Amino acid sequence: MSNQTFKKRIGCIGAGYVGGPTMAMIAAQCPDYKVTVVDINEKRIAAWLTDDLPIYEPGLLDVVKKARERNLFFSTDVNGAIREAEILFVSVNTPTKTFGEGAGKAADLQYWEETARNIVRVSTSDKIIVEKSTLPVRTADAMARILNANEKGIHFEVASNPEFLAEGSAMEDLLHPDRVLIGTRETEKGLRARQEIAAIYAHWVDPSRIITSNVWSAELSKLVANAFLAQRISSINSISALCEMTEADVGEVANAIGKDRRIGGKFLNASIGYGGSCFKKDILNLVYICENYGLHEVARYWESVVNMNEYQMRRFVLNMVRSMFSTVSRKKIVLLGFAFKANTGDTRESPAIYVARKLLDEHAELIISDPKALDNARAALAGSERPIAFEVDPYRAVQGAHAIAVLTEWEDYRRLDYQKIFDAMTKPAFVFDGRNILDHKRLFEIGFNVFPIGKPGLSHFK
Ligand code: UDX
Ligand code: UDX
Repeated sequence: MSNQTFKKRIGCIGAGYVGGPTMAMIAAQCPDYKVTVVDINEKRIAAWLTDDLPIYEPGLLDVVKKARERNLFFSTDVNGAIREAEILFVSVNTPTKTFGEGAGKAADLQYWEETARNIVRVSTSDKIIVEKSTLPVRTADAMARILNANEKGIHFEVASNPEFLAEGSAMEDLLHPDRVLIGTRETEKGLRARQEIAAIYAHWVDPSRIITSNVWSAELSKLVANAFLAQRISSINSISALCEMTEADVGEVANAIGKDRRIGGKFLNASIGYGGSCFKKDILNLVYICENYGLHEVARYWESVVNMNEYQMRRFVLNMVRSMFSTVSRKKIVLLGFAFKANTGDTRESPAIYVARKLLDEHAELIISDPKALDNARAALAGSERPIAFEVDPYRAVQGAHAIAVLTEWEDYRRLDYQKIFDAMTKPAFVFDGRNILDHKRLFEIGFNVFPIGKPGLSHFK
């Protein structure tokens, strides 16, 4: 199709975990729209053009292949994409500020603002600008001011369309979203933009799932959704500590409370703690906003969700050291899994990073295994003064090891031959199941000392 025959031209700045999969799905579902994804990172763009995509996501390659070079294009020509697009998604990263006011909590908006100024500089026609990045409430308002301060007579309508996909299930989440949320101004131009964005998703999403709101509600909803999800994990993790003391089993408790339909059964897996690029960042952002408005009690309430997560990771390492006779110095410990969750190679804010650093501080010898995340693990631990081994094959990783810690819930780890693993390890052999995915009774019978989350340990030393 030539450029003119496409019904609409969509652009996306930022070809990361959010921009890449989202635009691939839009292009695959909307053959009548031209979708161009741009990024300043040349290596990333080059990888999007091969079969070795820059991110691992089940099903992503098939969707990309369906649309690539048909109506899905990847490029480093950011200005060209801006100029051409009628609808421009922005999904550049918004890390936590590391400097100045709000350091450690507030979102660093410098990429966003630079992007906005660049859009003004190169645009020659009106555009709908869609925030895909998670941003503090009222950012759209600030951006609209920067964008519309132009002297070219161009109008930019800023909308918020937060992304709720979870990594590892991104394609499924994009294909069957619980909801698509579109926040716009309730003016004539705002409502027109709302229709245009809804028309994209209407290609494959049932209209009842496309919901609309004002811009600020949409921005806030994204932060609140992540805060609520993280809060559930911190809540069940807090109970896991109590279970370990009282011989209750956190899995049984979660099952019992989850059957109450008002509570629901999802997101109640006690774990070593949540990771990922969003939860901590978004909650701290919420905390910062609340503080800004003088809502200190509200800020402290949400901050406690982050504190509980850190407590859970700390507790896990302490338990490891204590159980192994109060020293792990020069002991070989295998970390099974380094990704922040299964089915992704992403290690951003992975609890495994915390666990690895703490064990290295205790002078443990680490062997890190993961089917997809070893490159990111290497980068995350670069600069460590102690040697670390990386080994994809779990059976090779465990040779002579004193302990195994399961840190990511990869399905394959359930199916390993634990008798073979036990035989290859130094005795006494320990398993710390940070995801509660193994058959603890069976491991105990094989001879392991087993320490799950939220249930009493099974030790041969009692
Ligand atoms: C990012 C944010 O972290 C998240 O809060 C938001 O909801 C969506 O965008 P993600 O896609 O996971 O999430 O980030 P990342 O994988 O880092 O991708 C961002 C991309 O933007 C990078 O590839 C980066 O090179 C690119 N970028 C950044 C630009 O193209 N231009 C810039 O000015 C800045
Ligand atoms: C999350 C939100 O789910 C998604 O809607 C949003 O767009 C981005 O942030 P993501 O971080 O990719 O997605 O993964 P998610 O499945 O939410 O898991 C986050 C962390 O919580 C992982 O470390 C996971 O292992 C952990 N988790 C999840 C638990 O520890 N227990 C659970 O019951 C569920």
